[in-house]
Amino acid sequence: MATQPRVMPGLFSGLSVKIIATIIVVILAVEVVIYLPSAANFRQSWLTDRLRVGIVAARVLDAVPDAMNLPRMITDRLLNSAGALAIVYRREGQSQLIELENTPMPREAVTIDMRVRDQATLIMGALDTLMLGGDRMLRIVGEEEGQEQSTVEVLMPEAPLRADLLVYSRNLLVLALILAAFTSAVLYVFVSLILIAPIRRLTGNMMSYREAPENAALIVAPTLRRDEIGVMERELASMESDIFSMLRQRRHLADLGLAVAKINHDLRNTLTSAQLLSDQVATLDDPKVQRLAPRLVQSIDKAIGFAQSVLDYGRQSVTPPRPVRVELRVMLEDAAFDAGLAGHPTIGFANNVPENVAISADPDQLSRVFINLIKNAREALEAAGAKVTAPVVDIGYAAAGDGLTISVADNGPGLPPRARDNLFVAFEGSARAGGTGLGLAIARELTEAHGGRLSFVDQPVGTRFDVVLPTALLLG
Ligand SMILES: Nc1ncnc2c1ncn2[C@@H]1O[C@H](COP(=O)(O)OP(=O)(O)O)[C@@H](O)[C@H]1O
Ligand SMILES: [Mg+2]
Repeated sequence: MATQPRVMPGLFSGLSVKIIATIIVVILAVEVVIYLPSAANFRQSWLTDRLRVGIVAARVLDAVPDAMNLPRMITDRLLNSAGALAIVYRREGQSQLIELENTPMPREAVTIDMRVRDQATLIMGALDTLMLGGDRMLRIVGEEEGQEQSTVEVLMPEAPLRADLLVYSRNLLVLALILAAFTSAVLYVFVSLILIAPIRRLTGNMMSYREAPENAALIVAPTLRRDEIGVMERELASMESDIFSMLRQRRHLADLGLAVAKINHDLRNTLTSAQLLSDQVATLDDPKVQRLAPRLVQSIDKAIGFAQSVLDYGRQSVTPPRPVRVELRVMLEDAAFDAGLAGHPTIGFANNVPENVAISADPDQLSRVFINLIKNAREALEAAGAKVTAPVVDIGYAAAGDGLTISVADNGPGLPPRARDNLFVAFEGSARAGGTGLGLAIARELTEAHGGRLSFVDQPVGTRFDVVLPTALLLG
């Protein structure tokens, strides 16, 4: 079993930190988006307040017949209360002005037209005040409600507006930080309780279960949660108990295998005695005995063969494939040899795999696949004997986008119905005397361990099996 270092990430390097960091960043981003319009609104109402004073002044001027001669005290007070240097009132082509005494009037001023109120202009205005504002003069232009011909202008420095806007922004920032801290703290607690704690519990369980999968006490106890975590807990629990019973089964099977090995051994001894006996018996002159003795030996031989294959199946690689570079053509050449086909007196062999194809695979396991397939073909062709003219086993090769196909085809009698019905089922698929029905089952298992597929391809003549391997196994 592979052993990697098993460490649970610390509380501050795991999921929780990522979650908190994300939350804080998102909240701050949202705050920035909210900040712009609210700063714009703040500035707008600040300016509106000042303009309103101007409008009041305009009304006064309207009401007083000789406005230019109002006492200074009154006009200065009016101006001071708006923080303004001057107020201009225009109506029907006439304009009236009141201004602070002894104050030089500035030449330049930035005009702010309060009648333009779209959000973009307001936001640009607020940004303008924050970034460029300072010691500029403002000319706030507006009109009395319902009186469109008359305009009021208030002339005032921008500095107080900018100072107020800065204070407002700072307050908002503090609020945003408090909000972010609070929200992420609450979410952290929530997420820890609801997600991270159960995930850590499951992770811890997996880690300890992996140490001792045969200890049923370590199987996780699912809670009654109905969300994804609950599903995960239940799935893990059932997976662990499956593994537990599979391990148990495997141990029992291993015990059975041992028993078969013992039987096999005894059988072999019995065969040896039987062989000796039959040799003795064969010397007897009785023709009946002479005819029966070899058949006796043959039967026992068959029994031994069967026991041997069962043993091999039990022993067959439970380990995952260990891939190395495999030259495909050479590997198939060797497999044909091991399957007793190379140099066969009657059956031909055509290896159509190109010279330079190499894949990453477990050489032992992959050649077992082809030895089984080629051996089956040879056996079928041998059994058919003279019924097949020019018997041949043909290895095909094709690499398409979705996989590389290596086919083993023969021009023999085709799959018998019994084999067809139980294709790939261990111990069931055999349709020949002395067969175990293990060859195809093993071949399929080993192909699938390589991420591939083994399939039977129906053909009018003969039998063909395709081994389809993932293209990813191809080596350059
Ligand atoms: N190329 C083939 N041509 C005809 N029959 C085949 C071929 N390959 C397999 N079979 C049939 O499928 C059966 C199952 O094969 P296999 O799983 O290798 O078991 P076994 O060879 O031990 O019988 C064989 O008994 C045989 O009848
Ligand atoms: Mg076979």
